[in-house]
Formats: sequence, C-alpha cells, structure tokens
Amino acid sequence: MSKLKSLEDLKRYREQAKETIKARKTNENLLIVGMGTCGIAAGAREVLNVFMEELNKRELSDITVTQTGCIGMCENEVLVGVKKQGEERITYGNVAPEDVPRIINDHVVNGKIVNDLVIGKPQSK
Ligand code: FES
Repeated sequence: MSKLKSLEDLKRYREQAKETIKARKTNENLLIVGMGTCGIAAGAREVLNVFMEELNKRELSDITVTQTGCIGMCENEVLVGVKKQGEERITYGNVAPEDVPRIINDHVVNGKIVNDLVIGKPQSK
C-alpha cells in the first residue's frame, strides 16, 4: 500500500478495505459499481443497468452485483470493481456502458483482465 497523504486517500483506503473484507467474508464473485455522487453524475446508473442486463442475457447468476459509495476518485468515475472468487479485486475506471460487455466477457467469464481500463490492481499482478 502506498502512503496515505490526505483525508481523501484515507477515505479511499477505508472504502476499498470495506469491500475487500466484504468480499473475503462472502467468498463470492462480486461486481462493484461506484455509486457516489460523482459516479452517478458520470453515468453509473446506466453502467449498472447495462451490467444487470448483460448478466441476465448471459444467464450468469454466480456473480453478485453491489454498490459502493465515494472512494475519492471523481476523475475516474464510473468505477467498477471485479472480485472473482479466490482472486484479488481489479478496479476499472472511466467505464462507459459500451465497455460492459467486454468486462463481462473477458474478465468475468474468461478471467482475462481488461488492461486498458484498469486503474487499480494488486502490485503482484
Ligand atoms: S463524490 Fe467523492 S470523489 Fe467524487
């Protein structure tokens, strides 16, 4: 983990830690959409709806879709986290509705990270 230099860094770390703890507790596949004020302003509701539609269309029922609040990264909204069972969480940024099928197909289904959208992943990867 890098140094926490501001209150925003601390808030971001807290939100990510909460999600990680939740994911570890539930030990399930999670798809997390940032629904803070700036996320919603950037189109998070539409992105969330497209995720739900795509998952239904593909009949993928083994992934839980959840929301998170502000993690202090306005400039990268819409933020989407993918946490597959037994793997570290990958955070995608600036996600648009048209990116959703690719995230689902490449990462969720085939386990291949969509590198051009990644803004956060464990340093070991
Ligand atoms: S609303 Fe908090 S970073 Fe955007």
